[in-house]
Amino acid sequence: MKVTFIGHGYVGLVTAAVFADFGNTVYVIGHTKEKIDNLKKGIIPIFESGLAELVRKNVDAGRLHFTLDYTPAIPHSDIVFIAVGTPPLATGEADLSTIFEVVEKIGKHLSGYTVVATKSTVPVRTNRKIREILDKEKKKDASFDLASTPEFLREGTAISDTLAPDRVVIGTDSERAQKVLVELHKPIETQIILTNIETAEMIKYASNSFLATKISYANAIAKLSELTGADGLKVLEGMGMDNRINNKFLSPGAGYGGSCFPKDVQALISISREYGYDFGLLREVERINQEAIMDIVQKAEKMLSTLEGKTVGILGLAFKPNTDDMRDAPSIDIIRELLDRGAKVKAYDPEAVKVAATKIKGIEFAKSAREAVEGADILLLLTEWNDFRKMDPGEIKKLMRGKAVVDARNIWDPSEMRKLGFEYIGVGR
Ligand code: UDX
Repeated sequence: MKVTFIGHGYVGLVTAAVFADFGNTVYVIGHTKEKIDNLKKGIIPIFESGLAELVRKNVDAGRLHFTLDYTPAIPHSDIVFIAVGTPPLATGEADLSTIFEVVEKIGKHLSGYTVVATKSTVPVRTNRKIREILDKEKKKDASFDLASTPEFLREGTAISDTLAPDRVVIGTDSERAQKVLVELHKPIETQIILTNIETAEMIKYASNSFLATKISYANAIAKLSELTGADGLKVLEGMGMDNRINNKFLSPGAGYGGSCFPKDVQALISISREYGYDFGLLREVERINQEAIMDIVQKAEKMLSTLEGKTVGILGLAFKPNTDDMRDAPSIDIIRELLDRGAKVKAYDPEAVKVAATKIKGIEFAKSAREAVEGADILLLLTEWNDFRKMDPGEIKKLMRGKAVVDARNIWDPSEMRKLGFEYIGVGR
């Protein structure tokens, strides 16, 4: 089939490369010449293992094309996927301006019958607006149907999540569009859920918000365990053995970040409010998450009695390991708070330093983990990169000036750390 993706972020680029690898002819449309030129040369704007090879292979095979121009791509495409960003506005609502911009261009270039599917997570009523624009912009002989095919890929495992998802969700009111989309997804061996557009979008928001709820619940149990002297990780381990709960997304720590959970939780709260429902549970999920982030600073301050003038070494900036993504990374709020309390900060991350330097000012970016911990009064472990798990804590102790460690992702063993003379504190332990 001929498929076009608008947008080449995590979702657009990964899904386009995977569908090209299935043998489809795939066009990816961007709006920055430099980025498109780089993609043509196989230079990928995001850190995602395996992606550069997959893109290179399909560009060489002539199945995957990058372009700024809608003309060669949209006409006679069986499907056009909208995979542009929908970042949160200050109000928490999703910013749909880019969506409507690209929809207008799609409309102008439609010819033949085309399925226009949104991959971006959009509020429930957006597709009515998309239909209006396409109807207005399209030529008379062009026809289209709308669909919603939300993504569930995780950064760092995006390709495997796309190749082997737990389910494919196809939301559309048109039999014909459903057939086209089922055909495209044939190579993916998994259960398909066929529903309407609103339900497909709600599955996405509801799933991400529930995963965020699990994390906040784990953080609340961890906090309560700290206060009562219970071993929070054991409590959560004991819970996770119940297959109705399962042990996934129950790791307490510095809270969740990323381009999805914070945005989708906020969006579901604001959509609910719009329909007259106060989703109090999700407001609490947000509050607990903010509390988990700030607790890391509280713990650091408590260990040193003051942060004023102290040197804080930070290992990990990205919102999670195996990505360079800093969107809504807890490290951003934590560092801002540390600086506000007068600390000096040296931070290292294996991949995210370049991106972090555009978001965080007033700190020193170390070139290695050693440099970040050298002379530090206290060490904060914020992202559980394997590089840090492999470090020798004894070595770290020699390099530091102080002996305090806040392990915000529970990667080290408390008794081993205390034996080495560290003052160690984790989350929920
Ligand atoms: C998430 C969803 O998992 C994915 O299905 C959706 O398509 C996009 O959003 P992603 O944001 O890439 O994926 O990362 P994920 O692995 O879900 O982690 C999100 C955040 O939660 C990270 O900051 C991570 O550190 C945190 N997290 C995750 C926890 O704090 N505890 C956990 O147990 C799991």
